[in-house]
Order: sequence, then C-alpha cells, then structure tokens
Amino acid sequence: MQPAVIAPSILSANFARLGAEVDAVLEAGADWVHFDVMDNHYVPNLTIGPLVCEALRRHGVTAPIDVHLMVSPVDRIVPDFAGAGATYITFHPEASEHVDRTIQLIRDSGCRPGLVFNPATPLHWLDYTLGAIDLVLLMSVNPGFGGQKFIPSALTKLAEARRRIETSGRPVRLEIDGGVKVDNIGAIARAGADTFVAGSAIFGSPDYAATIAQMRREISAA
Ligand code: DX5
Ligand code: ZN
Repeated sequence: MQPAVIAPSILSANFARLGAEVDAVLEAGADWVHFDVMDNHYVPNLTIGPLVCEALRRHGVTAPIDVHLMVSPVDRIVPDFAGAGATYITFHPEASEHVDRTIQLIRDSGCRPGLVFNPATPLHWLDYTLGAIDLVLLMSVNPGFGGQKFIPSALTKLAEARRRIETSGRPVRLEIDGGVKVDNIGAIARAGADTFVAGSAIFGSPDYAATIAQMRREISAA
C-alpha cells in the first residue's frame, strides 16, 4: 500500500483567513489540501470555486490540491479548476452525463481524475473506469456538510474497493471522506483506506499538529 496521506478539508477552516489556515495545516504535517466544491444543486450547500483555488496557489501553496466536485453539470467547470491549479479532480458519477468523457477531460486538462461514491452508490461504476483513474473516494457521510457522523457501512465498502484496486494492479489511491476522527481512523485504515480527509476533526481541534500526529500514530498501528 502507498504511504498514508492526510488531507484536511478546508470546509471547516476559518474562511476569513483561509491562506493562513492552509499554511498552518500544512506546517502541522498535512499532505494534501481537500477542497470541497458545492453548488446548491447537486448538493444542498454552496461553497467555493476556482477563484479560491487559484488564490491559494498565488498565496504560495505548493501541496497537492484535491478538488472534490459536488456539482452538476461537471464538465463545464473542469478546465477552470485545471487552470486554477488543481492537482486531483474527483466527481460523482451520477452528476455526469458521460462518466468516461469527464474522466478523459480531467486527464487531458493535466489533472488526476477520481470517482466519488456516495454512501448508497454501488462500486460497479468502477467496472470500466478503474484503469483510467488515479483515485477512488468513498463518502462516509452524505455529501453537503462537514461535521456529520461516520456511516459504518463505509468500512465494508472500503474493503471491497481495496480488493478491486489490488486486482487492478494500478497505484490508485483509496480515499475516505466524512466523519473521520482520531478514534475511528485506525479502523478506517484497517479496512483499506490510504488517504484520509478530515475537516472538523482537524480544524476544530486546538492543535493541528498534535491531531495530525495522533492520526498518523493510529494509522501506523492499524
Ligand atoms: C462533505 C465533504 C467533506 C467534509 C468532511 O460533503 O465532502 O470533505 O468537509 O468534513 P468532516 O471531516 O467534518 O466530516
Ligand atoms: Zn470532500
């Protein structure tokens, strides 16, 4: 398995001082910046777009930016995020009319594509896509809000996704998003995740470095 990646979701950061928050969390040992894009259409909330991604790059952020698109339609906004400095771009297959086309569009735009699975979305969307993507993101909450409770059925789904990835032989990352905390991240790692999104657990803690270090200890012990 690839080395663990901790990807704090900036949804729970203080947006009034976003650049400093991202600097702080990376300084505290985070690997990626998880960037949640919501459109008040595919999900019932509205967040941030390419301008904010570009602003973080201009601010000097060089870490990978993991753009999680919770938008429909998908394709219109992909080149904008590529131009804004996104590293990974993931999307929900239900939100795209032509999933394979969207994957190719992300790749052709110079970014790394990934598919996102809602709690009730079956993994069969991987049947003909796993050879073309770099990331599988399983949602362990319903998308739209930070601070929700982890849905336990995500653990069996992680194990199944891990099996599929191993069978493919490709270096595809397996990411979990929603309700990840210090006290469940070990079980999540054991189930097969190697990339961990955490919003409220990190940004809601008084000491980002201590929380990230604790998460890494739990993952290593898993
Ligand atoms: C939910 C977002 C998540 C969310 C995670 O739609 O995709 O990234 O911010 O937040 P926590 O870790 O607080 O559940
Ligand atoms: Zn997310």
